[in-house]
Amino acid sequence: MKIGLIGGSGLYKIDGFNLIESASLSTPFGFPSSSYQIGIIHGIEVVFLARHGKSHNLPPHKVNYRANIWGFKSLGIERIISVNAVGGINRLLSPGDILIADQIIDFTFGSRESTFYEHDKVVHVDFTYPYCTEMRHYLYESTKKAGINAINKGTYVCVNGPRLETAKEIKFFDSIGGDIVGMTAMPEAILSRELEICFASLCVVTNYAAGISSSKLTTSEVVAVMKTSIDRIKFIINEAIKLFSDTKTCICKDTLKDAEL
Ligand code: HPA
Repeated sequence: MKIGLIGGSGLYKIDGFNLIESASLSTPFGFPSSSYQIGIIHGIEVVFLARHGKSHNLPPHKVNYRANIWGFKSLGIERIISVNAVGGINRLLSPGDILIADQIIDFTFGSRESTFYEHDKVVHVDFTYPYCTEMRHYLYESTKKAGINAINKGTYVCVNGPRLETAKEIKFFDSIGGDIVGMTAMPEAILSRELEICFASLCVVTNYAAGISSSKLTTSEVVAVMKTSIDRIKFIINEAIKLFSDTKTCICKDTLKDAEL
């Protein structure tokens, strides 16, 4: 079993893991955001990728999501834990909270390359539950072990960015059941599903979404809150890796069964 880790804003490397090598890949879809850092945690191979590049040079709408996920697959990754910085829409959320999302509403409106099936095959994959239920369960168990008060579900509204939202957009997202807003869950989640990779996300609330508080939103606030959350994120990841087993009980591995026309 090999685990993939995607680091978002403020998380560009994982220290504390035994780095074995770095892999620079080229894929049929172009180049991933950066080289993959391959290391060991608790005897398990873990492959880390900085979504926005190691020096954060790629904005969310310019990330080559297909190359990133394809690269993980070609390295033999079967599960991906993604770390996302998000704004809190739900009034019960505050900066620093960690949420294990269970649903997505996609407002990128197809402006990103969001499928591997464009030419030879017509494939419609089931995406009723966009995140792997098994991984979500283990991530949540890990937060409890760490004494971290995480929230085990919530709806991630994904926007294209790079601008932040207007207050009315957030009000609208709130009215349709959005709990958090971010720019990267899609198409990462669907591309992983298309390749039958289990995928779950640790969302760190880095700010109140637009109009929820009266203060101006700043990128430095996002990075600062992510930095103060990194130790907790690493602890959760460390614990979760110990819990994942070789046998999977989720549906992700059978995604392509009966999905092709
Ligand atoms: N909106 C969109 N993306 C984000 C936010 C936000 O408020 N915070 C962190 N990523």
